[in-house]
Amino acid sequence: MILNKHNPLSLKSWKLLESNFGKNAQKKITDYFSEDSDRVKKLSLQWESFYVDYSKNLLDQETLDLLLALAEESGLNQAISDYFEGKKINETEKRAVLHTALRQLNPRTIMVDGQNITPKIEEVKKQMYDFADGVISGKWKGYTGKEITHIVNIGIGGSDLGPAMVTEALKFYNNHLQVTFVSNVEGDHVEEEIKKIDPEKTLFVIVSKTFTTQETLSNANTIKKWFLSHAPVSAISNHFVAVSNSLEKVIEFGIASENILPMNEWIGGRFSLWSTGGLSICLAIGPKNFEDLLQGAGKMDEHFRTADFKENMPVILALITIWYNNFWGVETEAIIPYSQYLKNLPSYLQQAIMESNGKGVDQNGNPVDYQTGNIIWGASGTNAQHAFFQLMHQGTKMIPADFIGFAKPLNQDNDHHDKLISNFFAQTQALMQGKSAEILREELTLQGKSHEEIEAILPFKIFEGNRPSNTLFIEQLTPANLGSLIALYEHRIFVQGIIWNIYSYDQWGVELGKQLANNILKDFDSKKIDHHDPSTHQLIEHYKKFRS
Ligand code: F6P
Repeated sequence: MILNKHNPLSLKSWKLLESNFGKNAQKKITDYFSEDSDRVKKLSLQWESFYVDYSKNLLDQETLDLLLALAEESGLNQAISDYFEGKKINETEKRAVLHTALRQLNPRTIMVDGQNITPKIEEVKKQMYDFADGVISGKWKGYTGKEITHIVNIGIGGSDLGPAMVTEALKFYNNHLQVTFVSNVEGDHVEEEIKKIDPEKTLFVIVSKTFTTQETLSNANTIKKWFLSHAPVSAISNHFVAVSNSLEKVIEFGIASENILPMNEWIGGRFSLWSTGGLSICLAIGPKNFEDLLQGAGKMDEHFRTADFKENMPVILALITIWYNNFWGVETEAIIPYSQYLKNLPSYLQQAIMESNGKGVDQNGNPVDYQTGNIIWGASGTNAQHAFFQLMHQGTKMIPADFIGFAKPLNQDNDHHDKLISNFFAQTQALMQGKSAEILREELTLQGKSHEEIEAILPFKIFEGNRPSNTLFIEQLTPANLGSLIALYEHRIFVQGIIWNIYSYDQWGVELGKQLANNILKDFDSKKIDHHDPSTHQLIEHYKKFRS
């Protein structure tokens, strides 16, 4: 047994948190501010260039102390060292979870199956950097001698979302290489990409840890076929590279071993952007920026590993999620980056968080009798303000939100940035403070409205407020800060998984659909279909009418 397999409901701190909730449930966030003039100072953290304000939450110091006690009682300290030391904490797959080994600030010995993995990590990283330098500098040529200008990343899930999110987020640092992504098995996705590319100048990066994923292999095969309709077989070596844990399968596909970068078993797909899985990122921003991304994550790792829990950003933010999810009965959490560069962050975090903690069985194999994985959604501000913020402000659901913003813009324009940041601050203020009937009456009277008019419109204009949020205010969107931000969320996932006593690093829940899709696929061409439920059966029959 590696991790502490407790039932959180039986922990003393959990029970005390239930009474704390009962005692304070009627209190407003603004009451907490009135009671303590030092609240912001106490409930905010400054670490490197990150400022996190978590004062706009429905909790007080006692709640926080109990949440911190919950982390202790759940064995978080020991779990963190097991995680970083490479113990096989992904017990259902018998694997270590070592994306942190890829971004060590001071490379150290990490043993996996009797071998120190650090030297190999450095070797493979150098291989990736040399390769990226070759392509960026133009030394690596296409089969007709032209330089590569376009990279197509073929992968799905962790082999797509992380690289796509980071490439977009760091577009400001992009060199001349244009990077696009093909993920969906839908033929239209790949066909639309193919229309944009020149086979002589394009490099295809196939990323698949298993090299068995239906979407990735279908897209890779379609692209290979298209490519070979323009170029000879010998050209494959100039235009196809792969990142995988399955060398034989890649070779079988037709890519020579010198064009394969390995991805280790102890890197989970959704945490693979730090590895060779991030090759497309490395090509887009160059090894120097990629290294900064790793270093930023490495710094957050050190912070998480060493900081006292009460000053530990991932721990504090994880505990706040637990507080709403398990005591307030809140189901969803919004992620709102006030940066268009981070527009893909919510969908990236959906996989990272929901594939990790969307588990209904605890580490003992028993169904859980408490809530686990929170639902993640969101979009970039200010766009989101004009989309779903109405519901956040006046709807019937409480939606705790993370607001993420950067103090300095990348493209200097104070006018735009001041407007952006004023909205960024205003939204958390509005969510917390709301707008009372008294203030509205005053405002409407000043506008010359009659008493009748005011009373008729009043109920619709009231904002109850008292809606919680965290503000993550970071100096600037640099590769290093992005690395720290992603690592912060990764560790938050880990902490929540430990407290919920679930396995965060497997994903058995995606298997059934894959298996059934294969059964259904076979039936499209068979005359007799008799092993599906009536609804699916009918859908298959209906689809067959349209198949050409
Ligand atoms: O969706 C399930 C999953 O296994 C993810 O965890 C993973 O990121 C994705 O599929 C892609 O897997 P692979 O890299 O093996 O193609």
